[in-house]
Parts: sequence; C-alpha cells; structure tokens
Amino acid sequence: MKAVVFHHIGDIRLDEVPEPEIKESTDAIVRLTASAICGTDLHMVRGTLTGMKPGTILGHEGVGIVEAIGPGLRNVQVGDRVVIPSTIGCGYCAYCRDGYYSQCDNANPNGPSAGSAYFGGGKDSGPFDGLQAEKARIPFANVGLVKLPDAVSDDQAILLSDIFPTGYMAAEMADIRPGRTVAVFGCGPVGQFVIASLKLMNAGRIFAIDTIPSRLAMARAQGAEIIDFSADDPVKALKDLTGGIGVDRAIDAVGVDATAPKKGPAARRAKQQEPRFRKERQEVAPEMRPSGGNWQPGDAPSIVFHWAIEALAKAGTLSIVGVYPDASRTFPIGTAMNKNVTIRMGNCNHRKYIPRLVELVQGRAVDPSKILTHAAPLMSALDAYKHFDKRQDGWIKVMLNPSAAAAA
Ligand SMILES: NC(=O)c1ccc[n+]([C@@H]2O[C@H](COP(=O)([O-])OP(=O)(O)OC[C@H]3O[C@@H](n4cnc5c(N)ncnc54)[C@H](O)[C@@H]3O)[C@@H](O)[C@H]2O)c1
Ligand SMILES: [Zn+2]
Ligand SMILES: [Zn+2]
Repeated sequence: MKAVVFHHIGDIRLDEVPEPEIKESTDAIVRLTASAICGTDLHMVRGTLTGMKPGTILGHEGVGIVEAIGPGLRNVQVGDRVVIPSTIGCGYCAYCRDGYYSQCDNANPNGPSAGSAYFGGGKDSGPFDGLQAEKARIPFANVGLVKLPDAVSDDQAILLSDIFPTGYMAAEMADIRPGRTVAVFGCGPVGQFVIASLKLMNAGRIFAIDTIPSRLAMARAQGAEIIDFSADDPVKALKDLTGGIGVDRAIDAVGVDATAPKKGPAARRAKQQEPRFRKERQEVAPEMRPSGGNWQPGDAPSIVFHWAIEALAKAGTLSIVGVYPDASRTFPIGTAMNKNVTIRMGNCNHRKYIPRLVELVQGRAVDPSKILTHAAPLMSALDAYKHFDKRQDGWIKVMLNPSAAAAA
C-alpha cells in the first residue's frame, strides 16, 4: 500500500509499504477513506519536533471503514464507519478513566512516563505508524474508534479526529463563560476551531491574531475581531481594544514554529529580542534542512507566550495547545507570576471530546468542513505538504484521500 513516510528532517516520501496486521487482540485494521495534514506534522519535517524514527508513517488524522478486528473486540464490527482519535489511550487506566487519554499509562510502549502515545509521532510517542496511508492498525480499538452516523460526512469527520477536539479543549481549559474576552494567537486550522469552540461556549469577544490574509479573513468570517501582527503591535492593540485592561483569556494555537513580525510596530521590539529567539531556535531545532522555501522552522519560538502574558488582564488564564518540544526552556515566568496568571496546557485528550462533537455536527450546531480548503489524493500528498508548510494564502486545511491512491 502507499503511505507518506518520514525519512529525515526535510525528507518525506510517498512510499510503497507493507499492509498493517493485527498484533494485539484489541487491534483493528481500518481502511482509510480520509486523512489530513496537521501543523504538528510540519514541526516534525521542519525539525522542531525531534526524535522521529526513519520509516515511520506520518499522520494522525483519519476516518475510515473497519476491515479486520482482533478477537478481543466486543463493540467494533467489520464494516463500521469510524473516526480515529489522534492520541491512543487504553481506556482502563486511572488517567483514561478520568478523561486524560493523552496521559494514558498503558498505550505508550516506552512506559507510563514517556508521554502521549499517538499515531505518526516520534520514538517517545510509541512510535506508531500513522494515518496518511491506505490502511492503519488501531490499538485499543474498543476505545480508539468512534462510530460515525451517516449524517456526518467524511469531510466533516476528518476534522473531528484531531483539530476540532484540540480547539475545543483549548477553549475548555480557558474556562470560558459568557461574556469573557479571549485572544486567540494563531489562525491556522487549530486556531479556527478554537474560535468555533469559543462561539459554542458564548465567549463575549474573540480577538484573532495572525498575519496571513486568508487565515485572518476566515477568522473574521467566524465573527472574531482580527489583529494582523505585521500591521499592529498585538499587545498594544489588545489593550487598546479592551479599555486598557487586557483580555481575560489567551489561547496559544501557534506552537514552536512561531514567527516574528518583519514589519509594522511590533517588528522593532522583536528585532531587539532576536538573539534570544536565535538561541531558543538552536535549542529546539539543532538540525534543520530547509529547501526550496520549505521546512523552515519558526524564527521566534517563545514570542507568543510573551505576547499572551503581556496582553492578559490581571488574574487571567493562558491556555496552550500549540505544540512545544521537551527542549523548549523559555517562559516569561516572572511577568506571569506577578499578574497572578493561571496557565493550563497539554496534548489533546481527543477521545474525551469526539463523541460529543460528533453529536454537535450531526445536529448541525456547527459544520467543521467550512475550515477545509483543499482536498488532494494521497498520491499528491507531498505537494500538499509543501503548500501547507509555506502557509500559502488560501491553504488552510488539507484533506488527503487515501483511496485515490489505490485507484491511481
Ligand atoms: N495540543 C494538541 O493536542 C495539538 C493538536 C493539534 C495541533 N496542535 C498544534 O497546534 C498548533 C497549530 O496547528 P495548525 O495545524 O493550526 O498549524 P499551522 O502551522 O497551520 O498554524 C499556525 C498559525 O500560527 C500563525 N503564527 C505564526 N507565528 C505567529 C505569531 N507570532 N502570532 C500569531 N500567530 C502566529 C501562522 O501564521 C499560522 O497561521 C501547532 O503547534 C500544532 O502542532 C496541538
Ligand atoms: Zn495534529
Ligand atoms: Zn489508559
């Protein structure tokens, strides 16, 4: 079968690989009908999320049909149409039982303290082969597959695998109540779902910060008040727009590949911090292999924390879902401490949110497919990766169609 395979930083390929097989009694094999590319995949190819094992199939978003099941499965059946949560949980440890699926004690073969187990990640996360493939092995499939009603289409369901739950968890961690004023840093696919989730929770005002016109336009279409960090200093703008108080809540949906403004009033301040940013980038991305304008790590890994902490009102809350690697060491702890800021963060507990989000989509409370801008056959995955990595205007979320690979 065909799959997108990680070879090296800056080197991913569409390879012919062996089909997956059932290994454990609660495994299922799913034939994928939809996959997608996430900002997290980009960190791996850019080298800001290190520790990838060459040969690992990438991707952690998937929808498909169950093709085979292990003898231990009592709920899943061959032929079921399912969405796959990106992180893997056993469903029986104390963490899974409390909804912390991404902190499962049993799913990660490296042990209970190794970190989140997920598809298509680095050695520390398993590694488990990912979902940018024609088929995949799903461990703990009794918990790790959520059945889909016919009313939810593949192009809606693919967004329920990772990024809608992540946006929802970001909003939940920010403790949103009606009226609260929230700044969302990053208007990529995850940021868009943070905004959609804030709306579901009746946030009062939503500010959205980015610099890519099509992404800001999508945020604005959702009703957010947009701030282009290349035109305004986001910290000053957020203060000015909130009577000098700042925002009650800030959400980081950017992650380690954050970039500094190159023009506008915030560029000068960023320029002064350049030596610190350069040091941070060396720490997080000791190796990088940019080529042809692609796979360029962000040049200001900690800028979003600084902006967010400064823009928060006293006693505000920062919620972080943008991904940072173990090697990230910088945080403006003093400023946060002296404002009594609360900080919450983490890898998404996907399985906790997906069943409820499926219901919301089925009931038409929200249509996640509005965020989807492109669909490409798996055969064209590398091209799609390049457009998405360059954040080309208009390329916001790319769905991959694995079955087209079989057809081609
Ligand atoms: N916690 C989780 O479980 C989880 C799940 C999915 C994705 N993620 C992470 O969420 C983040 C976003 O994912 P995505 O798919 O939307 O990625 P993306 O790279 O498409 O989006 C990031 C956005 O941030 C913007 N940005 C860059 N620098 C900025 C700055 N200084 N201020 C404001 N915006 C800035 C970019 O222009 C871009 O639009 C990534 O770090 C990804 O790894 C986390
Ligand atoms: Zn992801
Ligand atoms: Zn568990």
